[in-house]
Amino acid sequence: MAATPDTADPVKSTGLLGWIDQRFPLTKLWREQVSEYYAPKNFNFWYYFGSIALLVLVNQIVTGIFLTMNYKPSAAEAFSSVEYIMRDVDWGWLIRYMHSTGASAFFIVVYLHMFRALIYGSHRRPRELLWIFGCVIFVLLMAEAFMGYVLPWGNMSFWGAQVITSLFGSLPVIGGPLLEWIRGDFVIADATLNRFFALHVVALPFALVFLVAAHLMALHEVGSNNPDGIEIKKTKGADGHPLDGIPFHPYYTVKDIMGVAGFLLVFCGVIFFAPTFGGVFLEPANFEPANPLQTPPHIAPVWYFTPYYAMLRAVPSFAGTQIWGVLVMGAAIVVLFFLPWLDRSPVKSIRYRGPIFKVALAIFVVAFLVLGICGMKPPSGIYPMLAKWCTALYFAFFLLMPWYSRLDSTKPVPERVTGHA
Ligand code: HEM
Repeated sequence: MAATPDTADPVKSTGLLGWIDQRFPLTKLWREQVSEYYAPKNFNFWYYFGSIALLVLVNQIVTGIFLTMNYKPSAAEAFSSVEYIMRDVDWGWLIRYMHSTGASAFFIVVYLHMFRALIYGSHRRPRELLWIFGCVIFVLLMAEAFMGYVLPWGNMSFWGAQVITSLFGSLPVIGGPLLEWIRGDFVIADATLNRFFALHVVALPFALVFLVAAHLMALHEVGSNNPDGIEIKKTKGADGHPLDGIPFHPYYTVKDIMGVAGFLLVFCGVIFFAPTFGGVFLEPANFEPANPLQTPPHIAPVWYFTPYYAMLRAVPSFAGTQIWGVLVMGAAIVVLFFLPWLDRSPVKSIRYRGPIFKVALAIFVVAFLVLGICGMKPPSGIYPMLAKWCTALYFAFFLLMPWYSRLDSTKPVPERVTGHA
């Protein structure tokens, strides 16, 4: 007699689906996570970026697999293998530009995604762990992008790796041996490229996929926040579903397709018409092979690292060590993890916050953008001073938050999401 597994669909599925459902909770998962996952009905533009980030992650993995088929991870062959991909491999140029543009797109999307959390208080209780998973994703994404940038073994790859790895050498006591351990040699060399390749194509993508899964599980456990910052689970109808919620499928699957379409339009525009984005997404010095005897005229990381790079340079080196700059740069990332506890406002969404938070946020955004510009420019003229001030403003936004978020006025938060029938 056939057993009736408890994973079975209440409206019993038949055929192949029925066969699978009796052995694997496919329909059950679909219902719980998608077709009966109730998301707030007031999602706006800012809620597109999570699904777009997922799309970019898939793009990076798929194009990365195809690049790996022709790339050679050795100091002698890496640069020419990338040229070979660009010139001789069928559609190789497209795959490479999808991957390199994808890296920049990933950061644009993730920065906007994080900004959304900031304006609607999505990092606040009960979503602290979801936010922390996001912060770990951000750190891994930076490591992934840095190592990827080294792989073409262009001159900027080489000197970028030189500058960034040498930061570890500034740590007291363990600095020297740690640097040698990371590089696998006394200098940036073949061994360095090999290990960066292993980490870039295997270890970090695995970790990222795992963390994104954890990120989404945490999201579905607590439920999504929304532009009003209200917990929709508090107001349920007779059917037990939130009155302000709608099933993720079909409502948000269709809405997200809109966002994805808009994103792909811009993404394809960049790939086909401005793949290097004027030297911002792929720097000119990286179209020359690595040359240990010739530094590029101006070493700067890719744009998405420049705010943090500017902070590193904003702190002068004492007694020949850059350790303080390294610590400030590290602290700029670490402080993000504590955001849920720094924010003491009684309301979550910017819609119901007072002027202090709005002004603080505006200053923070401007400071971050200015830092990004400072990091791209040579450290001369007005830029070092600007970088110092903006680093101070960046930290002030976070460290003074416990004080000003309590002090700020608030507007009454409605019981139900705004715009409901
Ligand atoms: C690979 C990178 C990432 C992917 C694929 C991803 C994916 C997603 C998706 C699909 C959602 C639900 C849809 C949405 O709310 O937009 C979401 C929500 C969220 N993510 Fe991410 N995420 C990533 C990185 C990050 C980072 C770096 C942070 C913060 C440091 C973060 C913080 C959040 C928060 C707080 C929410 C809940 C938003 C709300 O309910 O209002 N995520 N993420």
